Amino acid sequence: MTQQIVELQGVGKSFRSADGTARTVLDGVDFHLAEGEIVALLGQSGSGKSTLLRIMAGLIAVDGGSVRYRGQPLYGPARGIAMVFQSFALFPWLTVQQNVELGLEARGVERKERAKRAGAAIDLIGLAGFEGALPRELSGGMRQRVGIARALVVEPEVLLMDEAFSALDVLTGERLRDDILQLWDDGAMPTKAMLVVSHNIEEAVLMADRVLIFASNPGRVRAELPITLPRPRDVDSLEVRALIDEVYKLMTVGEAPTAGRSRGQPAHMHLSDRLPDADVDRMEALLELLVDDGHDGRADLPQLAEEAELADHELLPLAKALALLGFADLADADLHLTVLGRRYVEGTHTLRQQLFGQQLLAHVPLAAHIRHSLEQAPSGELREEPFLQLLRESLDAAVAERVLRTAIEWGRYGEVFEYDFHTRLIHLPVGDALASDGTPNS
Ligand SMILES: Nc1ncnc2c1ncn2[C@@H]1O[C@H](COP(=O)(O)OP(=O)(O)OP(=O)(O)O)[C@@H](O)[C@H]1O
Ligand SMILES: [Mg+2]
Repeated sequence: MTQQIVELQGVGKSFRSADGTARTVLDGVDFHLAEGEIVALLGQSGSGKSTLLRIMAGLIAVDGGSVRYRGQPLYGPARGIAMVFQSFALFPWLTVQQNVELGLEARGVERKERAKRAGAAIDLIGLAGFEGALPRELSGGMRQRVGIARALVVEPEVLLMDEAFSALDVLTGERLRDDILQLWDDGAMPTKAMLVVSHNIEEAVLMADRVLIFASNPGRVRAELPITLPRPRDVDSLEVRALIDEVYKLMTVGEAPTAGRSRGQPAHMHLSDRLPDADVDRMEALLELLVDDGHDGRADLPQLAEEAELADHELLPLAKALALLGFADLADADLHLTVLGRRYVEGTHTLRQQLFGQQLLAHVPLAAHIRHSLEQAPSGELREEPFLQLLRESLDAAVAERVLRTAIEWGRYGEVFEYDFHTRLIHLPVGDALASDGTPNS
């Protein structure tokens, strides 16, 4: 029988933002981590993955549901659980050895034993010979290894890794990841289970025994894909490519705003729905890529990611934005150009802007609302603050800010409205403003 180490049931968590409104970040999260497994967690930025990890480590309390560690309710930091972060705050004046010993000092381990165990963790992670070095003498990859040694030195049975490789350059990140997998597969680590949060689908598929897809707003486990292929896995093998496709599919279906829409029909959005973080130039480049190189208007996402040299978390918002605006269809892990998308790609710059503006007003209620409000305003201009306020009613402040930035960027491109970065005023485009004496010329 599989031995559960950590079990979360119906976990909920809200945060109060600066203006006092509560926002539910996690709701009804069911999750368990069993002995012997690596679980990868994928999900949008802000969906609550780091919050979930902090809850599992006992660093923050839940508002609802239960967290059990080895069958016991978890109150406060769990001794057997260690976290690895994207980047470590190493103490610059302490050597590698001293930085690693720190975790043991806090636990009252005596001096000789500390030195021995830190030395072993440093060896294990491939830093032998650097015990006396200061952090500034190390490369980014080596510093991250020190951080991992600091987590491993306490011999945690659970290791929670929060985007542990994403601050490193690609090759360094991959090497460190492969080294850790090797240690895991060789049984050289004291660790019995790992939870890995990642933005990288490939990484998740190469590492995990189970991949979980997290939904946002509120965060909860939306889908799960077990992976039984033995490690090390070959990223170019057909099996791995198929699994990556599968994860892409899981990530693109059932997530607003593309939820429940049939082909060719952009989803119905609400005023304060999140907008995908997509930059117009990149959306355009992606559309162009779809007609180039013999794609003939259709390509699968993993292939596009590779050709466009984009990471998954960069490509997905672009694909979603194109679908939202009706320029492409996103079905399974395939992106294909719509008739309108083809007109767009073949159009002049002016036609492109017109089509963009038209689609924006038709499918993004926030943009339509801003435009409508401007048309009502005698001066044709409005402060951004009330719009932010409106978004903050249902979104976290940082997300609200991002959504408004995106709407403004898209609106400017489609000449639906303009924005002044000095005054932070949104206003009608010049041609329109002149005519906005009550008879807007839209
Ligand atoms: N201590 C806190 N107080 C208030 N809000 C918080 C706090 N911690 C997290 N949040 C909010 O909770 C939401 C989820 O944050 P979290 O960091 O867990 O997301 P994430 O999935 O890890 O995102 P990313 O992929 O960007 O790391 C965000 O909207 C964030 O602003
Ligand atoms: Mg995070």
